Amino acid sequence: KSSLPHARERTLIAVKPDGVQRRLIGQIIQRFEQRGFKLVGMKMLQVSEDLLSQHYSELRAKPFYPSLLYYMTSGPVVVMVWEGHNVVQTSRTMVGTTNPTEAQPGTVRGDFSTHVSRNVVHASDSLEGAKREIQLWFQGQELLNWDCCDQKSIS
Ligand code: TYD
Ligand code: MG
Repeated sequence: KSSLPHARERTLIAVKPDGVQRRLIGQIIQRFEQRGFKLVGMKMLQVSEDLLSQHYSELRAKPFYPSLLYYMTSGPVVVMVWEGHNVVQTSRTMVGTTNPTEAQPGTVRGDFSTHVSRNVVHASDSLEGAKREIQLWFQGQELLNWDCCDQKSIS
């Protein structure tokens, strides 16, 4: 309905294994809901090394890559697609810097983490990255279009 550019933008957010284990799923979802974004897909899964190596393909040569792989496959993750105006950029701001030492209080990483290797959450870093990651993690039919109740007549 909206003709605003970026109104239907989508991004991929994941609660990493440390976030799941520390019972932070609800608090992270709450932040995106209260900001005004719309959840259009969500699932919990044990990530395969194959999926992860595609997800982090640009990082394959980094020295921390083996430990990143170990961490990300150490337990289930909750992966979500959130929709809304400028959701990619706003999510990055809400999540905070990659290294929690520099993350502002009030951000997810700034409130819940101390170390870059346990930074609780993933957020796509660009529109192109978000499109690629959403296609990698979700089948088309797992993403739902839905409207708010106040936009529909009650029958
Ligand atoms: P990156 O995509 O650079 O950060 P972001 O998650 O903010 O987009 O890196 C992906 C993940 O790799 C990062 O969230 C945590 C891990 N990582 C390390 O363990 N050590 C590091 O020095 C960096 C840069 C990242
Ligand atoms: Mg990244």
